[in-house]
Amino acid sequence: MQTISITRPDDWHLHLRDGAGLAAVAGFSARRFARVLAMPNLQPPVTTVALAAAYRARIRAALPPGADFTPLLALYLTETTAADEIDRAAASDFVVGVKCYPAGATTHAEAGVTSLERCRAVLERMEECDLVLQLHGEATDPAVDPYDRESVFIERELVPLRRRYPRLRVVLEHVTTRAGVDFVRDGGPGLAATLTPQHLLLNRGALFAGGLRPHLYCLPLLKRERDREALVEAATGGDPRFFLGTDSAPHARTAKESACGCAGVFSAHAGIELYAEVFARAGRLERLDAFASAHGADFYRVPRNRGSITLVREPWTVPAHYPFGTDQLVPFGAGTTLEWRLLDPETGP
Ligand code: NCD
Ligand code: ZN
Repeated sequence: MQTISITRPDDWHLHLRDGAGLAAVAGFSARRFARVLAMPNLQPPVTTVALAAAYRARIRAALPPGADFTPLLALYLTETTAADEIDRAAASDFVVGVKCYPAGATTHAEAGVTSLERCRAVLERMEECDLVLQLHGEATDPAVDPYDRESVFIERELVPLRRRYPRLRVVLEHVTTRAGVDFVRDGGPGLAATLTPQHLLLNRGALFAGGLRPHLYCLPLLKRERDREALVEAATGGDPRFFLGTDSAPHARTAKESACGCAGVFSAHAGIELYAEVFARAGRLERLDAFASAHGADFYRVPRNRGSITLVREPWTVPAHYPFGTDQLVPFGAGTTLEWRLLDPETGP
């Protein structure tokens, strides 16, 4: 039987939610990942270190007993974020960045920023303190076609940002296009990107295959096949600028299967297995370890994890749904077969 062991990985972009949602999903990530970067788009958003500390305590309380799992946090950037908050974040040992949502770009992004120009003091302080900026890189101008939002964001916001704050370290989250990948690859030091399983495995055709597929609707949208191919090359090519961030974003089934369904794909149930699928198909399974367990830790300047996890080539069927509070959660790949299964250390051979 084919198996692969890798260093315990980190998920550098994860939505854990709160309350009953948090309780329903936290265990999936804790079983696979040593550390995660928990996104701050709660309601109300996690805008201060004090709110981040309280959220971290709630995450810890939701974990299975004995879980060896470290939640790291990003603060939610607003136009009223104070530069002092950046000092507090840099002094903490669990806030590792500040997440910028362009206002209205995605789920719970209403409190985000209309222009990075309005955050000068904060960005200067971040550059001084070496706190990482995580970008949801999509233009929100309604005149911009939804499929061009990433490239227009790069042109209008990211290029000027890199020029103005050359030492600010930036992660272009969930990069989805060939243009985005090229920009990151040529972007010089201090620029990196995370890649999601859905953008690596599917193109936009999947969203409309046989009918409208609300569970594949996420932001940024799935893109063209030539974009997906560029993402796979970025993930599996060994470039340390690219690393794992699932963007697993659970929403209740009723909120997805709706006349106005919300954006987000839940993938934490197979948060490492799906990437194994990508790397195996590309014939580069030996590079999964670096992508999942080394590049992100190195970029964030935290030690690589100790210990390992093992994946085995043993097909399994993804359940149709999981419990999610009083509702249900439909996972990525529901009802389909995945080739790679995570071996539980307790029940392994
Ligand atoms: C995310 C969510 O639901 O919080 N949704 C998504 O489609 N990815 C927000 C985000 O990261 O865009
Ligand atoms: Zn996200």
